[in-house]
Amino acid sequence: MTRRIIFNAFDMTCVTHQAPGLWRHPANQAHRYNELDYWVDLARLLERGTFDAIFIADVVGVYDVYRGSAAPALGDAAQIPLGDPVAQISAMAQATEHLGFGVTVALTYELPYALARRFSTLDHFTKGRIGWNVVTSYLDSAARNLGLDQQIAHDDRYEIAEEFLDVTYKLWEGSWEDGAVVRDRERGVFTDASRVHPIEHRGQHFSVPGIHLAEPSPQRTPTIFQAGASPRGREFAAKHGEAIFINGLRPEITRRITDDIRDRAERIGRPRDSVKILTLATVIVAPTDEEAQAKYAEYREYVSLEGALALYGGWSGLDLSQFDPDVPLKYVDTDAARSALSIFTLADPEREWTPRDIAHYVGIGGIGPVIVGSPETVADELERWVEVGGVDGFNLAYVVTPGTFEDFVDLAVPELRRRGRIWEQYPEGTLRGRLRGDGSPVVPEWHPAHAYRGAYAGAPSALDGIRPSVLAESADAAPTSSLKEIAS
Ligand SMILES: Cc1cc2nc3c(=O)[nH]c(=O)nc-3n(C[C@H](O)[C@H](O)[C@H](O)COP(=O)(O)O)c2cc1C
Repeated sequence: MTRRIIFNAFDMTCVTHQAPGLWRHPANQAHRYNELDYWVDLARLLERGTFDAIFIADVVGVYDVYRGSAAPALGDAAQIPLGDPVAQISAMAQATEHLGFGVTVALTYELPYALARRFSTLDHFTKGRIGWNVVTSYLDSAARNLGLDQQIAHDDRYEIAEEFLDVTYKLWEGSWEDGAVVRDRERGVFTDASRVHPIEHRGQHFSVPGIHLAEPSPQRTPTIFQAGASPRGREFAAKHGEAIFINGLRPEITRRITDDIRDRAERIGRPRDSVKILTLATVIVAPTDEEAQAKYAEYREYVSLEGALALYGGWSGLDLSQFDPDVPLKYVDTDAARSALSIFTLADPEREWTPRDIAHYVGIGGIGPVIVGSPETVADELERWVEVGGVDGFNLAYVVTPGTFEDFVDLAVPELRRRGRIWEQYPEGTLRGRLRGDGSPVVPEWHPAHAYRGAYAGAPSALDGIRPSVLAESADAAPTSSLKEIAS
């Protein structure tokens, strides 16, 4: 049976995401990222193309590694100026019925108690269409502006992330039992306190003794996306990620990464096919191959190599201005995104990359392939990535927006639908239910969050230790007495 392919649009609340310099192109509307209308129109367009989701990247720092300054990034609008990644989601959710929303939040600079509430709220407002791309950040500039002297060491960030997720899972899955919200108007009880439980988390990095602030949302735990690609990152992704976002340059090489992630998942008891792997790609499609190639050539004239190196400096943690532009790079461990370097140095034994090569490659599409051609050519190549690379789908970046997405929806989607690779219509349900294909809104059994589902039933609740009401014998005390009745 032909398997469907997952498609997300990859975007960011900024002008230049993965195609530095292209903001100058006359067709590019990316500078409108500060207008809600821009996001709402994009969401409607993506829903017309039955995209699974819009996947919103984010960082909380500036790309100041290249040439030791933020100036190259500022000049090229390379992911700066940059807005908050979640603010537009409610508006997009209101304008659509099915489109999912994957939003990147680096937990390194958050607190689990507050973040859990933010995602519960988003899950309510989107009716179960929210996903969290759990990342640990890679920018030293973020750390310096958020109270640290420097970035926490690479693998230590993942240790903190393990505990962070544990706390949020307890809040989302365990704190409020199903049915805790009774909304009993007659007895004057909104929530049955006996079914709301303090999570009593006291760990190495976080202390959260209390109850979750939000009531259970359609998915409870948002659909968990992950994008860690180093060995430690893949281990983390294989444990928590329902969809895992990777970079890959060629399908043949990417196969090793996708097999490795699935092997890791299997080793910890997770079904191999429960791992949905998405790779970054940029598609330039036109009615014919020649027209698509001409469009690509025209786009290339706008590429800023300085902007590309500014972005790459942030991702990799390496200032390529300090290297000979024509000498192949060698791998070194950094505290940034290690995969951004290993992909050009270790992944492909048949190819060496110089800083100049990398600047040209990253100039359109970031660290991902650019697929150019007619609808048939593009669909063939996307299918090759699925068959040979072992991926389940794509996060599609744009060159110009919304133009790149419009071309995809109008030209590539009909061909992919003809091949049974994209839905004709959305199935009903939540983001998780659609992604898994079984319609279930809640975390599956293999997922670490599942262990907390209903786990606190019978444990101490918010009602324990309650002192008598000062109004004990008066009619005003009714709500509290009703609480006790309900509990008994
Ligand atoms: C394809 C891909 C996309 C990513 N997108 C983001 C992002 O938007 N924001 C972010 O802070 N980190 C992002 N990351 C970074 C990682 O999630 C991770 O926190 C960082 O790279 C260090 O881990 P690693 O060396 O295991 O990749 C991305 C990584 C990959 C591979």
